[in-house]
Amino acid sequence: MSIKDEIERLKKSKNAIILAHYYQRPEIQEIADYVGDSLGLSQKAAETKADIIVFAGVHFMAETAKILNPQKKVVLPDLNAGCSLADSCPADTFKKFVDQYPNHAVITYVNCSAKVKALSDIVCTSSNALKIVESVPKEIPIIFAPDKNLGKYIMEKTGRKMLLWNGSCLVHEAFSMEKLLSLVSKYPDYNIIAHPESEEHILKTASYIGSTSEMITYVKQNNTKKFIVATEAGILHKMQLEVPNTTLIPAPSKEDNTCACSECSYMKVNTLEKLRDCLLHEIPQIKVPYNISKKALAPIKRMLEISRQ
Ligand code: 13P
Ligand code: SF4
Repeated sequence: MSIKDEIERLKKSKNAIILAHYYQRPEIQEIADYVGDSLGLSQKAAETKADIIVFAGVHFMAETAKILNPQKKVVLPDLNAGCSLADSCPADTFKKFVDQYPNHAVITYVNCSAKVKALSDIVCTSSNALKIVESVPKEIPIIFAPDKNLGKYIMEKTGRKMLLWNGSCLVHEAFSMEKLLSLVSKYPDYNIIAHPESEEHILKTASYIGSTSEMITYVKQNNTKKFIVATEAGILHKMQLEVPNTTLIPAPSKEDNTCACSECSYMKVNTLEKLRDCLLHEIPQIKVPYNISKKALAPIKRMLEISRQ
């Protein structure tokens, strides 16, 4: 039996669902029941009737699914699937920071640990950050963490000052401006689209800025047939399937790597074999201590509620 057949068989017999992020390897995206951005994945996790959630993504995503489903088993193919952005915001240091500004609303980007979420008022993702920030009354000052690039972008969009945590994603900070500009001079008819985790100078070159799902929708709806895509290169798989007649070039990375693009090594530690094994043995499981889970649930639920409005 092939690994794919084994996964299908296990999935049915155990009533499991596979949720995958766009940055996962193509073969994982293909076997998933749902592929989406962080918001879509949390929404799916919140509504699933499955008994086991196999999270083909990174730790904070699986943790969010577990917080939403304390009674279900949530498994992650490889526990080493972390996130540089989540790591840039240790909960104890963040608590000291938040304690200095008691009158502030605390908005945290979903790319953070459950402990950090537990210190928040509302969680957000890249696709609803604007709406979430705007939901806070103007007179209430805001702390935004951990992504400073998304925070700066939202500050510019809303004209609202926020206290930013100094965190970032190493993948979205790996784009080379120099190489990007030389690509643009070679292909002047290409449109740059970018993820808001990218640095300000990259965002300034973009004709569209959005979450992974929003970038795919934009490419589908836009008649331009040529794009330079500034986000993790895994997105190109789904994007290209959606727009087969469009030419997509990944934005160039500072690193001299094999694909000359930006790849998240955390996302890529998950493989089809590990996915099969975690479904078979139901490990490694995501566990969140009860008191943290309870505190982190409220700001996640608030995000889901505001997103529905
Ligand atoms: P979205 O898919 O929500 O845009 O998030 C991107 C990302 O970096 C996830 O780690
Ligand atoms: Fe974290 Fe960046 Fe990887 Fe997303 S792409 S999981 S933000 S390190």
